[in-house]
Amino acid sequence: MQARILDGKAIAAEVRAEWAQHAAEVHKQRGRAPSLAVVLVGEDPASKSYVRGKRKAAAEMGILSRDVDLPADTPEAALRDEVDKLNADPAIDAILVQLPLPAHVNADALLERIQPAKDADGFHPVNLGRMLLGQDCLLPCTPAGVMEILGRSQIKTQGTEVVIVGRSRTVGRPLANMLSAKSESANATVTLCHSATIDLAKHCRQADILIAAAGQARIITADMIKPGATVIDVGIHRIGTTPKGRPKLCGDVDFDTAKEVASAITPVPGGVGPMTIAMLMRNTVLAARK
Ligand code: GUN
Repeated sequence: MQARILDGKAIAAEVRAEWAQHAAEVHKQRGRAPSLAVVLVGEDPASKSYVRGKRKAAAEMGILSRDVDLPADTPEAALRDEVDKLNADPAIDAILVQLPLPAHVNADALLERIQPAKDADGFHPVNLGRMLLGQDCLLPCTPAGVMEILGRSQIKTQGTEVVIVGRSRTVGRPLANMLSAKSESANATVTLCHSATIDLAKHCRQADILIAAAGQARIITADMIKPGATVIDVGIHRIGTTPKGRPKLCGDVDFDTAKEVASAITPVPGGVGPMTIAMLMRNTVLAARK
């Protein structure tokens, strides 16, 4: 069997086009475009590249982005002041602090300082708590992107066995919550595997939908996939350089063998990655509407 490739880039383009429209409506109604402040601390090349992508997407969608670029040795108190200023600024609808932060900064404390209503990433404890309670909130972007891929690809989750590999606060745990929610777009039975799981392969082989978010290159091999399963790969790893000098990337799934067993699979790059940015823009417009 050759799996259907779930084209995250195309789905993200669809989502972005829809939310660009909503952004234009907000702009028209209140005379000001939705706005996102993107805070980058330091010079980490991967973070710089992600931030460039976010700023570019905003510009393409009629969303204003404000660049707040600070040196790596910015004191924690100055970062707190920066967040406080953005919280208080009526021209800013949403705030994103790019992670990871330098070691001297308490990232949890800084993220908690962002006003929940301006929390573009959906990482604030209030938003995560509201998500758990099934209340209206800003959702974390990568898990929300996975839900969009499944929904827009007509992959049924209702009554299915979902196995998620990886219990991170940004992906695995929120996604387990979203997929087990009592709603038509979820209603799955979810198993959350992690580094202490005994016999990971056995759990994975039970999955109708297998979600790899472990942060380990090609940890999911074809023998761990039930024939006909849907495989969603959240991982992204740099494994060298292409002849053109671009980074060569792979995911948490051994794509070449997995696509022979799965019925549908997301590629890396071009799968979940573009959805994260699309959901970030959705959150920005939602924050602007509030
Ligand atoms: N670093 C890597 N991914 C993310 C993300 O989704 N949000 C933030 N703020 N930082 C990141």
